[in-house]
Amino acid sequence: MEVKVIAGDVTQIEADAIVVNLFEGVGQPGGATAAVDKALDGGVTRLISNGEIKGKFGEVGIIHTLGKLPAGIVAVAGLGKRQDFTLDKIRGVAGEFCRSLRKLNCHRIATILHGAGIGGIATEASVEAIVEGSLLGLYSFTRYKKSEYEDIREILIVEREESKLPALERGVHKGKIMAEATALARDMVNEPANCMTPSRMSEVAKEIANEHNLVFNVLDSNDMEAIGMGALLGVAKGSSQAPKLITLSYKGDVSSKNAIGFIGKGVTFDSGGISIKPSEGMGEMKDDMAGGAAVMAALSAIAQLKPKINVAGIIPATENLPSGSALKPGDVLKAMSGKTIEVISTDAEGRLILADALSYAVKQGFSPLVDVATLTGACRVALGTGYSGVFGNDQELVDKVLKAGSEAGEKLWQMPMPEEYKEQNKSEIADIKNTGDKYGGAITAALFLGEFVDNTPWVHLDIAGTASSSKESGYVVKGATGVGVRTLVELALSLAK
Ligand code: BES
Ligand code: MN
Ligand code: ZN
Repeated sequence: MEVKVIAGDVTQIEADAIVVNLFEGVGQPGGATAAVDKALDGGVTRLISNGEIKGKFGEVGIIHTLGKLPAGIVAVAGLGKRQDFTLDKIRGVAGEFCRSLRKLNCHRIATILHGAGIGGIATEASVEAIVEGSLLGLYSFTRYKKSEYEDIREILIVEREESKLPALERGVHKGKIMAEATALARDMVNEPANCMTPSRMSEVAKEIANEHNLVFNVLDSNDMEAIGMGALLGVAKGSSQAPKLITLSYKGDVSSKNAIGFIGKGVTFDSGGISIKPSEGMGEMKDDMAGGAAVMAALSAIAQLKPKINVAGIIPATENLPSGSALKPGDVLKAMSGKTIEVISTDAEGRLILADALSYAVKQGFSPLVDVATLTGACRVALGTGYSGVFGNDQELVDKVLKAGSEAGEKLWQMPMPEEYKEQNKSEIADIKNTGDKYGGAITAALFLGEFVDNTPWVHLDIAGTASSSKESGYVVKGATGVGVRTLVELALSLAK
C-alpha cells in the first residue's frame, strides 16, 4: 500500500472515501468535520443528533455522499472522550477505519490528521500513528490462504497548510518503517513451526542483513560447544533441528566501541520437552520465538532509521522437543558463565537458552542489555494480554524502557525483583535451578535471568501475554502482534540522543 501526503481541502479530494473525526459528546463538530458537514448540508450533525454517530472510540460512521462530494463515502472516525485521548488512540482509530473501509471495497482513501487540532498531538507524531495504525490494522497473514478482502491500495493524508508537509513526510517515513518492521515480526511469528525453524530464522536474519546493510553472524552447535553454551545446547538436544545463535549488528556510531544488546528468545516450537505440555493449545507454542522475531525486526527498522548508536541483536534459536536424546528433569547443565543449573522442568527452557545468550552478550561487552521473551505463563496470568512485564536491575534503564514503550504504544508494567524470592531458585545439587515455587513464576524467571548479566544494566520484557492476540481490535489483528519491535526501536532512538 502506498501512503502519500498532500496539501489541500479534504472535501475536494477524489477518493473512494474520505475520513474525518469526532470526539465523543461533541454535537457541533469543528475543523474538517464541519467543512464536510456543510458540504453534506448538515448530514453529519443530523446523524449525531439522531444518535447514529456518537464519536465513541473505534466507531466508524459511514455516510454516502450521493454526489454532494467528489468522494463517494465519508467515514466519521470516533476518537472517544477528549480527556482520554492519547497518541496510541490514533493508531487504534486508523486500524478501525481502514478495516471498515476495506470491507466496503474502498481502494483509495483520504484522511485528515487526527488529534493534531484540539487533540493536542504534534503533527509528525499524529501522521506516524496514522500510518502505523493503518498498515498494522490492515495486516493479514496470507502466505497459506488468500485474504478475504481486496487491499486498500492508497492512503492520502490531507493537510490544509502546505508548510506542514515536510513534517507529514517525516511522519510517513518513520511510520512506514515502524509498521513494516512490526509486520515482519508478525509474519515470522505467524509462520508455522515446520517452516520457521532455527535455520529459517537464521536465513531471515541473513536476508535482513543483506537488505539493510547489517552484519550477520551465526554460531552453530560446534561453535556453541567450543564456548561452553551447555544450557542452550541442553535444550536443543531433543530436537533434530540444529540450534542457531544469531547475531545482527548495526553500526551507527563509528566513534564508539560500545553497543547496546537486544536479546530475543527464539524457541521455534515449545512442546515443553520431556515435561510435555497438555496437547490442547500446544500449537500456540509456535509463538515462542516472538522475542527473537521482535529483535530481528527491530534491527531492520533501526538500520533504516539510522540512529547514531551501535546495536547488536542476539537470538538464541532452538526447538524444545521430547525425544530419546532430550534433556530430562533432574539433569544438570553447565552454562557458559560457568554456573551449573539443575533442570527441574524441561518446560522452563526459555531461561536456559537466555542464560547463555545473556552471558554471550556480557562477554561481548554489550551494554545496556534488553531481552524480550515469551517467558512465563505466570506473566500472562498476572498482567493479562494487554501488558508486557518489565523487570530490571537498573531503575534508570527501566524508566527509559517504560518511556519507549509509551511512545511506541506498547503497554508495559514494571514488576518487582525481590531479593528474598531468589531463595526459590536455590538447588540442592547445583548453583541454581530452573524453576521456583508455585507462585510468582514470572518473577523467579526474571531473577534467574538476572544471575547471568553480572553488573550490566539489564531489562527483561516478558511478552508471554502480549505476543499474540485472539481478537481483532484497533491496530491489533488476530494472531501475532509484533510486540516489542516498536519499544526496542524507540529505545535505541532515545539512547542515541
Ligand atoms: N513458552 C512458555 C511460556 C508461555 C506460556 C508463553 C503461555 C506464552 C503463553 C515457557 O517456556 C514455559 O513453558 N514456561 C513455563 C515455566 C514453568 C515450567 C516454570 C510456564 O509458564 O508454565
Ligand atoms: Mn516452555
Ligand atoms: Zn517457552
